[in-house]
Amino acid sequence: MNQTEAQQQLETLRKQLHRYNYEYHTLDKPSVSDYEYDKKMRDLLDIEAEFPELITPDSPSQRVGAEPLSAFQKVRHNVPMLSLGNSFDEQELRDFDRRARQGTEEEVKYVCELKIDGLAVSLTYEDGVLVRGATRGDGTTGEDITVNLRTIRSIPLRLDSPETLEVRGEAFMPKKSFLSMNETREEKGEVPFANPRNAAAGSLRQLDPRIAAKRNLDIFLYGVGEWQGESSKSHSERLERMKELGLKTNPEWKKCETIDEVIEYVNSWVERRPDLDYEIDGIVIKVDRLDQQQALGFTAKSPRWATAYKFPAEEAVTKLKDIELSVGRTGVVTPTAILEPVQVAGTTVQRASLHNEDLIREKDIRIGDTVIIKKAGDIIPEVVRVLDDKRSGEEEPFSMPEYCPECESKLVRLEEEVALRCINPNCKAQLREGLIHFVSRNAMDIEGLGEKVIAQLFQEELIHNISDLYKLNREELLQLDRMGEKSVDNLLKAIEASKENSLEKLLFGLGIRYVGTKAASTLAQEFGTIDSLMEADVERLVQVPEIGEKMADSIARYFDKPQVTELIEALKQSGINMEYKGTKLNEGPEDSPFKGKTVVLTGKMENFTRSEAKNIVQELGGKVTGSVSKNTDLLIAGEDAGSKYSKAEQLGVEIWNEEEFANALDN
Ligand code: IVH
Repeated sequence: MNQTEAQQQLETLRKQLHRYNYEYHTLDKPSVSDYEYDKKMRDLLDIEAEFPELITPDSPSQRVGAEPLSAFQKVRHNVPMLSLGNSFDEQELRDFDRRARQGTEEEVKYVCELKIDGLAVSLTYEDGVLVRGATRGDGTTGEDITVNLRTIRSIPLRLDSPETLEVRGEAFMPKKSFLSMNETREEKGEVPFANPRNAAAGSLRQLDPRIAAKRNLDIFLYGVGEWQGESSKSHSERLERMKELGLKTNPEWKKCETIDEVIEYVNSWVERRPDLDYEIDGIVIKVDRLDQQQALGFTAKSPRWATAYKFPAEEAVTKLKDIELSVGRTGVVTPTAILEPVQVAGTTVQRASLHNEDLIREKDIRIGDTVIIKKAGDIIPEVVRVLDDKRSGEEEPFSMPEYCPECESKLVRLEEEVALRCINPNCKAQLREGLIHFVSRNAMDIEGLGEKVIAQLFQEELIHNISDLYKLNREELLQLDRMGEKSVDNLLKAIEASKENSLEKLLFGLGIRYVGTKAASTLAQEFGTIDSLMEADVERLVQVPEIGEKMADSIARYFDKPQVTELIEALKQSGINMEYKGTKLNEGPEDSPFKGKTVVLTGKMENFTRSEAKNIVQELGGKVTGSVSKNTDLLIAGEDAGSKYSKAEQLGVEIWNEEEFANALDN
């Protein structure tokens, strides 16, 4: 095949794949089998591998970019992304209608749409090609999440006509994907997402697009920011035109001639809502004619031509059968209500967190009570209140135990906390939860060690603490339920591989209070080895940028404990790496201008993004921190530098502009 032939074939394949993709993900009506799709995709990949110079960014092969980003760029919205005013009942809808008619002095027709509960995003197409995707942010400035939005298969990388426009919509996670993802997360000992909205938002805020690509997200587009040469006269025409271009709009929208029709539409969805495979939290009502929209205009925050009708939270009545206690990784004891199963907002609910003793007392919840429950954010079950008049007198008041339900040591209430804690460092429940955290993805990332397996390991006394994990052998693991040869081998491999992790993963996995992934990275970079971190006292720790007193105190106290010293020693004996493996500080070439220097970046540069500049400085042996202090050696300031600039001036810190930065690199 020569290049011209390759080009022709690529064009045909891309067109076909684009159409299959559209039929499957946007129309929900596939015309070919998965097998055929995969085969075409393989052909495309083969040709692109042979002729990499022919790869275009809108090729169906280019949904997932290769490399994770180090940060998202900020994007300013040319047309602000506003939010909507709310209506909570029929009267408020009628008031909205009256204001719309008064404001236009005309008859007004409406478009009603489902209010999708996800994350508002904006997509920009130039000459029909997707060039940018951004979050709403504060409405004026959002984040450039193009790499993640490109992974959503219902977002076309190219439109059916070379239009230049910015459209807006809601990215979301379908309920089914949400439930199955949470199931997997829980099995792996990861924290489940609270609701599909958080799951969608969390996925789109990942710097590594491979994560979003796995999350099965979807989108409905419902509006326009800007549209060059737009011909539509009404919102309904816009929706139709958007659909023609290949953009996914929600099919349930309806044109309503009167407010009565609007109310009918709203009421019909209160009932049909559980049947949808995505969460909605209301109905959006928009004035249809664009000239009328313009005449009505905006308040400071929202358009006068639209309103969001919010559904009341769905509630149900059931019996509280019992209160169960569980002990978490940090020793916090949490009460959970065990309920008679009941349907709420489409699912069966049988447990609800009661959070803490104060809440139980405040609501006077007793075992045997009849209670009203609802789902917070329509997904997390919660006890709203007790129906006192249903009491028979047999109900039993509940009080938290004095002793840990798992290890029987005395529980304590730490200062300023509502929670009761078990502070026995050898409490089995805590060790078990601690191990679940230790193996989780951001920590040691040991796949194949789910909660159930861990529970069994403790049950069978094969493990007593974290370090025992590295002493497990094949025979022991094979004894466990549902652990075949293959899973045991994979697990052992994963355990072995985790020994090579860079220090920050171990630090996060230890579960030191207040030390999240970010602090763990900072500490690993700063100290390089666990030994030098363990030697650091509070005074030394607070010198590290972004480590505050509370965290420093917690770290120092943690490493002071004899059982922690023992644990670290045992982990060392098992061959676990205790060093930071990323770019070492103070590395970089001998003649580097940044070697060993603490550098702060501020303002906007013309030729470098913030993360590019940061990477360059780090590559050249500098340390980049977020704020100017007396430890700062150099401030590199682009345009519109603000308070960091004045602070640096005040402290006499050396300041470079972009040109000086670029010159230093040239030299
Ligand atoms: S129209 C000028 N239509 O609800 C406002 N919004 O507070 C344009 N939403 O942030 C918004 N479904 O994320 C519109 N069909 C729909 C929607 C919708 C969900 C979200 C949107 C916005 C919020 C309104």
